[in-house]
Amino acid sequence: MRKRSTDLAIETSGLVKTFGDNRAVDGLDLSVPAGTVYGVLGPNGAGKTTAVRMLATLLRPDGGEARVFGHDVVREADTVRGLVSLTGQYASVDEDMTGMENLILLGRLLGHAKPAARDRAAQLLEAFGLTEAADRQVKNYSGGMRRRIDIAASILNTPELLFLDEPTTGLDPRSRSQVWDIVRIVVAHGTTVLLTTQYLDEADRLAGRIAVIDHGRLIAEGTPGELKSSVGAGSVHVRLRDPAQRPEAERVLARELRAQVYLEADPVALTVRVNGEESDRAAAEQAARALSELAASGIVVDDFSLGQPSLDEVFLALTDRPATTEEAAA
Ligand SMILES: Nc1ncnc2c1ncn2[C@@H]1O[C@H](COP(=O)(O)OP(=O)(O)OP(=O)(O)O)[C@@H](O)[C@H]1O
Ligand SMILES: [Mg+2]
Repeated sequence: MRKRSTDLAIETSGLVKTFGDNRAVDGLDLSVPAGTVYGVLGPNGAGKTTAVRMLATLLRPDGGEARVFGHDVVREADTVRGLVSLTGQYASVDEDMTGMENLILLGRLLGHAKPAARDRAAQLLEAFGLTEAADRQVKNYSGGMRRRIDIAASILNTPELLFLDEPTTGLDPRSRSQVWDIVRIVVAHGTTVLLTTQYLDEADRLAGRIAVIDHGRLIAEGTPGELKSSVGAGSVHVRLRDPAQRPEAERVLARELRAQVYLEADPVALTVRVNGEESDRAAAEQAARALSELAASGIVVDDFSLGQPSLDEVFLALTDRPATTEEAAA
């Protein structure tokens, strides 16, 4: 058992960071239980990286408090630094060195003797599926390999708390699922992981709890199940052959799914948020019934899908407006 001064890995209250008159983090309250993956979900410019940088002691808060395993990030910054590791959105391995060289160098910097550093490097490269790429320069790695070597570098010394800042943004589906496997391995070894993401499905797969932030503020917090039930178990997306049939399709879908139907800008597309209290299975059954009712009404459907709500839909449900991007907010 590792010694812990508290069961909370992170506790913030009223945390603030301003850049000029931009309140990037605007009174954030977070409680992250130790030993779990905690998801922080938010659009571009929400304040995710700024919050992580304060928690990792890289940025000084302008207000409020933050503790990591009970230690204040300002007054006990050195202690906190010894407990955390950060894999940044823009990470830190040397492009001109090979994967192996990077991990050995970082291991030496952490004070490991050369044979130990080499063993640990080889072990991590193996665990992360990078053995074959071990002797290639990192600049020649694919995006997915690059994220994996970044994470490997950040867990050379098993940290108590690992920050992963958008570890899968821009990756293809296969590389994303490799990163997810790695996160599961890391947390299984007892490390608490704070993961920022723009994808609800990612937070849903990995995180025990999720905080949704927007404009530096917490707008929702809970388990993935709680969050989805406040938002809707899923969304039905329908594309019709003929735009003239859309009013009829809207009536059928509203009746069958007993929910508000959104008419998309695209004149053949409709979206329906499936009722929140229902299970995933019930949602699928309802969706199937709606599809057969559309067919029975002579409506030609080109495309029909039931998916998890997107971040946009989460924001629409929680705030009554779409997720604003940094550009739109500016
Ligand atoms: N060093 C800085 N100087 C000035 N403004 C900053 C700085 N860092 C962040 N900001 C601003 O603070 C706000 C929050 O930025 P932050 O990088 O924390 O968002 P984010 O949630 O990580 O977004 P993304 O998903 O794009 O990474 C933005 O409006 C950003 O422009
Ligand atoms: Mg960021």
